[in-house]
Amino acid sequence: PKTGKYGEAYLPFGFTCTSAKAHTTESLEYAQNFCVEDTDVFAITYPKSGTIWMQEILPLVLNGGDLTPIHTIPNWERVPWLEEKQLARVVDKLASPRALVSHLPYSLMPPSFCTSKAKVIYVMRNPKDIMVSSYYFHQMAGCLEDPGTFEEFMDKFLEGKVMFGKWTDHVKSWRNSELGDRIMYITYEEMVEDLPASLRHISDFLGCNLTEEVIQKIAEHCSFKSMQNNNMSNFSLMPKVCMDSDKSPFLRKGIAGDWKNHFSSEQLARFTSVISKELEGESFPLPWSL
Ligand code: A3P
Repeated sequence: PKTGKYGEAYLPFGFTCTSAKAHTTESLEYAQNFCVEDTDVFAITYPKSGTIWMQEILPLVLNGGDLTPIHTIPNWERVPWLEEKQLARVVDKLASPRALVSHLPYSLMPPSFCTSKAKVIYVMRNPKDIMVSSYYFHQMAGCLEDPGTFEEFMDKFLEGKVMFGKWTDHVKSWRNSELGDRIMYITYEEMVEDLPASLRHISDFLGCNLTEEVIQKIAEHCSFKSMQNNNMSNFSLMPKVCMDSDKSPFLRKGIAGDWKNHFSSEQLARFTSVISKELEGESFPLPWSL
């Protein structure tokens, strides 16, 4: 199989061209023993909630809008996943303050994270759109099994038989994490609606004091179109056997509400009923109606 310009060693999601393993025991052990620094910033997401968007945003907010990293370093190296094997290879090259991403639930974060002052930006997305995005991702990602029909994939999603388990468990773990002012919650939908406002919010949270000019510059470079055209962010460096954008591009639609084009009324009722039941008794607000 072909290897990309950056070679097998740098592929994200634990991909190799010949192995379908998304995470290894070693990478998870490495994550558990990882030494989190007080200045670290984590973007935490359930998969398909806007992780790579934050991989684009965070370095720019933290470095005052210098575009060099997003034009020269692939996103999986620039802001690596805590739980994936490329972290060990790139950790010494990370700019300070370090930005990392993770899909781990709160309970699986390393002990050093809990005792640190590291900050977290938790990105939530409407689970119906997550499911749609994930359905297409399963078709294009070589390391994931075929999703079957949309109906079959909905069964798996609702049962948590997908990467990182149930969406409701993930959201509950982070919404109830009691990290106080160390955690900021933001939604994918807010970012779609008003990216500059979201960037101001992120910049304030991280104490970055960015000017309006820099905010506008970052917003322009983190737009869906700019990211689609950025080879360091659109996964075009990945071998086709790992990610086949002819089947579905990673940066697919970038909108809120695509679920309306996919869910039947029966599927909507079933989805809403299962998710609402699992969130019963939770006090955190949901920004969308289920
Ligand atoms: P869609 O498949 O609905 O288009 P993740 O990075 O967590 O896997 O999430 C991927 C989703 O985020 C995809 O959603 C992708 O298009 C969307 N996304 C990534 N960058 C974006 C941007 N700049 N604007 C809007 N959506 C973006």
